[in-house]
Formats: sequence, structure tokens, C-alpha cells
Amino acid sequence: MPHDFMPGLAGVPAAKSAVSDVDGGRGVLEYRGIGIEELCAKSSFLETAWLLLFGGLPTRSDFDRFARDVTRHRRIKYRIVELIKCLPDQGHPMDALQAAVAALGMFYPGRNVADADNNYWSAVRLIAKLPTIVAAYARLRRGDDCLPPRDDLGFADNFLYMLTGQAPDDVLSRTLDACLILHAEHTMNASTFAGIVTASTLADPYTVVASSIGALKGPLHGGANEEVVQMLRDIGEPGNARPYVAGLLAEKRKLMGFGHRVYKVKDPRATVLQGLCEQVFRKCGASPLYEVAVEVERISTELLAGKPIYPNVDFYSGILYDKMGIEADCFTPVFAMARVAGWLAHWFEQLRENKLYRPDQIYEGEHNRPYVPLSQR
Ligand code: CMC
Repeated sequence: MPHDFMPGLAGVPAAKSAVSDVDGGRGVLEYRGIGIEELCAKSSFLETAWLLLFGGLPTRSDFDRFARDVTRHRRIKYRIVELIKCLPDQGHPMDALQAAVAALGMFYPGRNVADADNNYWSAVRLIAKLPTIVAAYARLRRGDDCLPPRDDLGFADNFLYMLTGQAPDDVLSRTLDACLILHAEHTMNASTFAGIVTASTLADPYTVVASSIGALKGPLHGGANEEVVQMLRDIGEPGNARPYVAGLLAEKRKLMGFGHRVYKVKDPRATVLQGLCEQVFRKCGASPLYEVAVEVERISTELLAGKPIYPNVDFYSGILYDKMGIEADCFTPVFAMARVAGWLAHWFEQLRENKLYRPDQIYEGEHNRPYVPLSQR
């Protein structure tokens, strides 16, 4: 049956899912029916990961077992560390993450994706090891040894410790945990779609997640957070925001961290992140980038009046990560550390009712062309 062609598959359902839902008109995002604001205030990243993966909030014993399993699987094999050491210092950390995650799959059995037990352990390993890989590459490229994970620290604290070598500040690690909740899942976006397309071939979960990481890297998706901070640094101070934004819009360029395919109001994650910025900067000292960001939002809303283009999740997250000592090119890998929970939840769903993705195309080329021998061309 012929269908209308929808560039970017805009508005075309690609799967049925019960993992999360967005109401783009009202600015609502729920994971398994629970609003992200409530999860950020009351839950933790690991509990939210369980919720996404298994459909409900864990019991105390489920949660304790999952947290223990993740904590015990944080270490990465020395050969993965050696692999990361061989990567160029100037490379992008998302490429290092993608390469290391693809290589992880070579070390672990579990290619039989019909085995639910194996799938559980693959999910645990991926959630546990991504932060270790991100921190290892960030340290190794600047000439520091990588630090083994500390079992006495929680998920976010341990990541900040492995990255900076410092005992993490409690406010910052709780803020990072909330950021990870906000980045953990977002319906059928480009990286989730890339992952379930790979999953539909019954490829192993390391390959599925490596596919998703590749799609997340681009500046129209997760890569925007890195560009936002660069833009705010270029603007420098709030007084420069108006000419900068006006000039960019006059050149028909896009403001990074603004706009969304689904949201026609401010992204609810941006609202929560802005609240976190206010809390963190009150307690830990102001960030000049934040003052600039608030002014950019104000000016953009004025200049884009009439267009439904508002801050998205990437607008305020980088400012917080910057305050935590995370380098700008590691912002998207941190996004991936969280989003892996959502990718894996969709992987589980895909396996339950798998059908190979094999869409159609509208052929616009020629037919029946004669082959002309090389000597006659
Ligand atoms: N700045 C200025 N104009 C914009 C922006 C923006 N950030 N986003 C969209 N527009 C305009 C665009 O120029 C176009 O205008 P016109 O109709 O006059 O030509 C109209 O809005 C529609 O834009 P589009 O790019 O066709 O719409 P889309 O649904 O494909 O866009 C988007 C979604 C996220 C790709 C886009 O808003 C964008 O490129 N934003 C900047 C990059 C960014 O922040 N990405 C992160 C997305 S959220 C997190 C994630 O998914 O990882």
C-alpha cells in the first residue's frame, strides 16, 4: 500500500511503546506514566533506570539487588583500557565511547538475545560500564591514569570521582543524578530509533547501544549541549546576547539548545534544569554562563515571537556539567551514560515483538540504462 513520504519520518509511528510519553503541546514528559519532575525530586538515576527497564518502581529488594549488580560491574577489563589508550587524544569522546562499547561486546557472551537472564546482565554491564569508559578516556587523553571505580560511592558520585579524582561535592553529585534522570529516556528519538533498528536484526545489545551512541553524537541531537556552551562563551556577557541572537537569526542559522520536533512549548526538562541551575549556583557560586543563558532565552523568546521555538534539554544541561568540572566534549557522553537506560528499555520492548525494520523508499532514479564499457566513456 503506498504511503505519503514524510521527511524525517515526522509524525510517523515507528513502534508501539509503553516506556515514556511526551505531550509536546503541554510540555509533559512521563516515564512509565510518572512525571519527570516527580522522579527528579524523589527518585534516583538507578531507580529510574529500573523503572524504565522493567515497567514499574522496584521493591526495596529488587532495587538493592539491581544497585549491587550495577556497582559490581563498573570495572572495565584492562584490554578495554588499553584500547582506549590507543585512541588519539584529539578524538571526540563520543567516538571513544562508541568504539569501547562496540568492543565490550567481544568480551561478554550473551549474543543469544532470546535469553532473558543474559539480557539482564548485558543491561547491567552497559549501565555500569559507560561511566567508567567516559571517565577513563577523559583522564587518559590528558595524561592522567584512569581511576578504578569506588564501590562505596553511588552512581553519580562515583562518576565524578573517576573523572576528577576528588571526593565529590554532595550538591553537585545529587544534581548530576537528577540530570541523568532527565536524560534517561525520551520516546522515539533518533538514537532510540537507530538502536531499535539494529535490535530488530537480533544484533547483540553492545552493537545496539553502539548504534545509538553514533546517532546521539550529531549536533541536531545530543551534540547540541556541547555547542550551547561554546555559543554562551562566544557571547561572553548578557549585554552581547541581543546582537548575537539577532545576527544569527538574520543569517537563518539555528540557535543551539532551542527548538524541538515534538515540543511546541518550553521542554519540561529545560525547566527542571533551570531550577537546578538556580539551586546549584546559589549554593556553589554563580556561573557567568548562566547569566548569559537566561538573557539568550529572554531575547530569543522575544525575537522568535510567534514561532514555537523554546529551550530544549540541551540548553541548560551543559552549564551544570561545566560547573561539575566536566569538559564540554564530554557532555554528550554523559547524556549517553543516562540514555542507555532508555535505549535498553526499548531494546527489551523490541525483542518482545520483534519484526525486522525494512522500510520502503521512493525510487527517483533511472531504469534500463545501458552499460557503457570503460573504454567508451
Ligand atoms: N533556532 C532557530 N530557528 C529554529 C531552531 C533553532 N534552534 N529550530 C528550529 N528552527 C526553525 C527552522 O529554521 C525552521 O524555520 P522555517 O520554517 O522558517 O524554515 C522551523 O523552525 C522548523 O525547523 P526544523 O529544523 O525543520 O524542525 P525540526 O522539527 O526538524 O527541528 C531540531 C528540530 C531539534 C532539529 C531543531 O529545532 C534544531 O536544529 N535545533 C537546534 C539543535 C538542538 O538544539 N538540538 C537538540 C534537540 S533536543 C535534544 C535531543 O534530541 O538530543
